[in-house]
Amino acid sequence: MIGPFERLVRPLLHALDPEDAHGLTLRILKFAPPLGAVRDDTRLAVRAFGLNFPNPVGMAAGFDKNAEVPDVLLRFGFGFVEVGTITPLPQPGNPRPRVFRLEADGGVINRLGFNSQGADAVLKRLAARAKAPSLASPASGGGWGGGIVGVNVGANKAAPDRVADYVQLIERFASVASYITVNVSSPNTPGLRALQQAAALDDLLARVVDARERVAQKAGPTPLLLKIAPDLSLGELDDVVGIARSRRVDGMIVGNTTLARPPSLRETKVAKEAGGLSGRPLFSLATRMLAETYVRVEGVFPVIGAGGIDSGGTALAKFRAGASLIQLYSALVFRGLGLVAEIKSALIAALERDRLDSLAELVGADAAAVTAEPWPE
Ligand SMILES: Cc1cc2nc3c(=O)[nH]c(=O)nc-3n(C[C@H](O)[C@H](O)[C@H](O)COP(=O)(O)O)c2cc1C
Repeated sequence: MIGPFERLVRPLLHALDPEDAHGLTLRILKFAPPLGAVRDDTRLAVRAFGLNFPNPVGMAAGFDKNAEVPDVLLRFGFGFVEVGTITPLPQPGNPRPRVFRLEADGGVINRLGFNSQGADAVLKRLAARAKAPSLASPASGGGWGGGIVGVNVGANKAAPDRVADYVQLIERFASVASYITVNVSSPNTPGLRALQQAAALDDLLARVVDARERVAQKAGPTPLLLKIAPDLSLGELDDVVGIARSRRVDGMIVGNTTLARPPSLRETKVAKEAGGLSGRPLFSLATRMLAETYVRVEGVFPVIGAGGIDSGGTALAKFRAGASLIQLYSALVFRGLGLVAEIKSALIAALERDRLDSLAELVGADAAAVTAEPWPE
């Protein structure tokens, strides 16, 4: 069903400005006929952060920034959906154009700058979802059923106290989020990535963990994840993982888009656009940083791998480099939603080939080897 429709629509979408195409895609999804939920092979199930994921393939943050279609995406076969980044107050983001396709490279550059409808609007949608009768049965999610929807939070560009923005969003969203991601890794809000520096990060994590504890009695134990940039030095990564461990976050996402421009890029003109690069050209760097993170975490919490997944093979490589779960976005622009089913089939095939019962058995199998390779360009 997905395939033929997408094959028809994709050339049209690619003829449009990328952001217009994205808006149209969201509208199509909103009015998509209600699909029956996909039943996943039980060998794909993952338990992480106290949550039961029916499969490990997640929609990365940025696709559904305002939580307009999380349940449609779950029905298309994602094991979880991360909505956001949400900022406390509505803000328009940077001037357009601000999203660019690198067609020949399978990449995307964006400098959206946290365009968000703001916390009130998004909270209303997620609260309605949490109360909906069809979602009320205890299924795979956290405190409440209906599928795993994480909420990715960030600070307003003009916030006088950025940490206070994160604290506020955790207090407000904990009761409707399966987990919350603290996003300090967008390159498009000036100064935001500085929150990854040791002293700033320690203060931020102390305060967000504290906020989570304050609301836990009402909201339940909401897992807190930290999403980092792939552009950290290994010394900075030592600090980040050390602080994440000492402040007892529940997991990390590695990672966000990169400011780097690999020399192999073919779309040299588009590559000059400012912003974060994602998709296939990000794969090597993001996978290396994932492995580097995995070896530093020493199994204390799970790591989610994101960056350049565009096939069963690249998905499998993320697990072998240390991911317990994966997320993708850019490849969907080029390959469409059918990619989700393709990746899940490839993962099952890999388990059968190696006679394994679950993905957990191959998480990190190649981490040491990946960290010994020459640094990716
Ligand atoms: C257009 C676009 C918008 C994004 N917006 C966000 C965002 O709001 N918050 C965030 O944490 N990551 C955002 N990301 C990053 C993705 O969540 C993901 O970490 C990154 O793109 C790497 O995965 P990919 O190569 O599969 O796209 C965005 C990515 C793209 C392409």
